[in-house]
Amino acid sequence: MKLFFYFCAEKFQVMAERSSFSGSVGFVLAAAGSAVGLGNIWRFPYLAAKDGGGVFLAVYIVLALTFGFTLLTTEIAIGRKTRKSPLSAYRRINPRFKNLGIIACIIPMMIMPYYCVIGGWVMKYAVEFLSGGGIETASDGYFSNFITGTTEPVVYTFIFLALTCGIIYRGVNNGIEKFSKILMPLLLLLVIGISIFALTIQHTDSNGVTRTGLEGLKVFAVPDFSGMTIEKFSIVLMDAMGQLFYSLSIAMGIMISYGSYVKESSNLVKNINRIEIFDTAVAFLAGVMVIPVVYVFTGYDGMSSSGPGLMFINIPKIFATMGVAGNILGGLFFTMVLFAALTSAMSILEAIVSSFMDKFGTNRKKATLIEFSIALFFALLVCFGYNIMYFEISLPNGVKAQFLDMMDYISNNILMPVIAIGTCILIGYVSKPKTVINEVTRNGEKFSREKLFTVMIKYIAPLMLFLLLLKSVGLF
Ligand code: PHE
Repeated sequence: MKLFFYFCAEKFQVMAERSSFSGSVGFVLAAAGSAVGLGNIWRFPYLAAKDGGGVFLAVYIVLALTFGFTLLTTEIAIGRKTRKSPLSAYRRINPRFKNLGIIACIIPMMIMPYYCVIGGWVMKYAVEFLSGGGIETASDGYFSNFITGTTEPVVYTFIFLALTCGIIYRGVNNGIEKFSKILMPLLLLLVIGISIFALTIQHTDSNGVTRTGLEGLKVFAVPDFSGMTIEKFSIVLMDAMGQLFYSLSIAMGIMISYGSYVKESSNLVKNINRIEIFDTAVAFLAGVMVIPVVYVFTGYDGMSSSGPGLMFINIPKIFATMGVAGNILGGLFFTMVLFAALTSAMSILEAIVSSFMDKFGTNRKKATLIEFSIALFFALLVCFGYNIMYFEISLPNGVKAQFLDMMDYISNNILMPVIAIGTCILIGYVSKPKTVINEVTRNGEKFSREKLFTVMIKYIAPLMLFLLLLKSVGLF
C-alpha cells in the first residue's frame, strides 16, 4: 500500500511538474535547432565535395532514413516513455544501465564549454561584418591573432554562454520553444536566400578563368563515380555515418531530454521524419551555399578545407573580395551560423540542466546557474589553451590538439559511439525493441519501418557504430 502511494505520488509529481512543448511545431523546431549546427555548415559541404558529390548525398540520405532514423527514434522514445532526463532515463529503463546515463550527461558537459567558445568566435565575426569591418577579417593571420588574444575571445564566449543560459533559464516554453520558433524560420530564410545568391554568382580569376555558381553546384550535387573503388566507397560510407551521427545530435542525451517534453498524444514517427527532413535540407542547402561560392572564387583547391579553417579563414576571404556587398552578405551569413550555433548550444545546456533537476531535485534557475559556472570555468581553459596555457599533444587520429580538440575528440570520437552502442544493446537485447515500438505506437500510430527498426537496432547499427569507434581511435 505504502509503495502504491509512493508510486502515485511520484507519478503525480512527474505529471504535475514536468514541462512539455506546447505542440508538435515547438518540438520539431527545437529538435531541428539542435540538429542543425556548425556541422551542417562547415563539414557536410566539405565531405560532399570530397566524397564524389551526389554519391555522398545519396549515401547520406539512405543512412539518414535507416541508421539515423533508428537512433533518433530510440532516444526520443526513451525520453517520452520515462519522462526523465538522460541521467535518470537509462536507469528507469534498466537499473543495470545507469552508467550510460552518467556518460550521457558527461558528454554535453564536455561539449558545452568549447561549443560556446566557437559560438563566441561566430558572434565576433557576425559583429565585425555587420559593423562594416568584414574586409579586415580576411587579412592574413587575423583569425590566429584573434584566438590567441586573451580578452576578446573570453568576452565573446561569455556573452554567448550567458545568452544560452538566459534562454534555458526561462524554461521549456518561454525559452527553448519560443526562441526556436523565432530563430529556426529566420535561419531557414537566410539559408535559402544566401543559397539562391550563391547560384547566381560568377567570377573571373587572375588567369582569366571564369567559373559560375551553377558549375559549383554540379561539383556538390552531381554524382562523380570517377575513381570510385570499393575502398573509396567505404570511406564515403564512414564519412557519411560519422557526419550523420553528429548532425542528428544523438548519443549525448539531448534527444532524450527533448523527448521527455513531448506530449503523449504527439505522433512521434511523423515528427521524427520532420526533424530529419529539416536537418538534411539545411545540410544540403549549406552545400548549395558554401560549395558554389568557394568553387567560384578559389576553384577546386579552396574546397579542401573544413571546420574553423573554412569558416573563419577561407569564407571571410571570399566575402572580402565582394566589397560592400561582402559585408552585408557576410553579416547575414555569420548571423545565420550564429542562430544555428545558439539553438544547438541551447539543447546541449538543456540536457545538462534537466539532468541536474531530475537527479538532485534542484530548480531550473539554480541548475542553470551551476552549469553556467562549470561551463565558464572550462570555457576559460579552452580560451587560454590558445595563449597563456598553450600546449599541444598528438591525438591517436593524428590531430595536433589543444584543450578544444581534446574535449571534442573524447566526447565525439569515443564517448558518443560508446553510448550509442550501449543504447543499441539495451534496447535491442535487454529491454527489447518493443520498449520503443510500443512507445511510438501508443496512440495506435502506424509504424511502417518497424521491421527495419528492429533489424537496425539489433544488428546493423551496433556493427556500424563499432566500426565508427574503431575508425575514431585510428584502428580502422
Ligand atoms: N548537431 C549539431 C551539428 O550538426 C552539433 C551538435 C553537437 C549539437 C552537439 C548539439 C550537440 O552541428
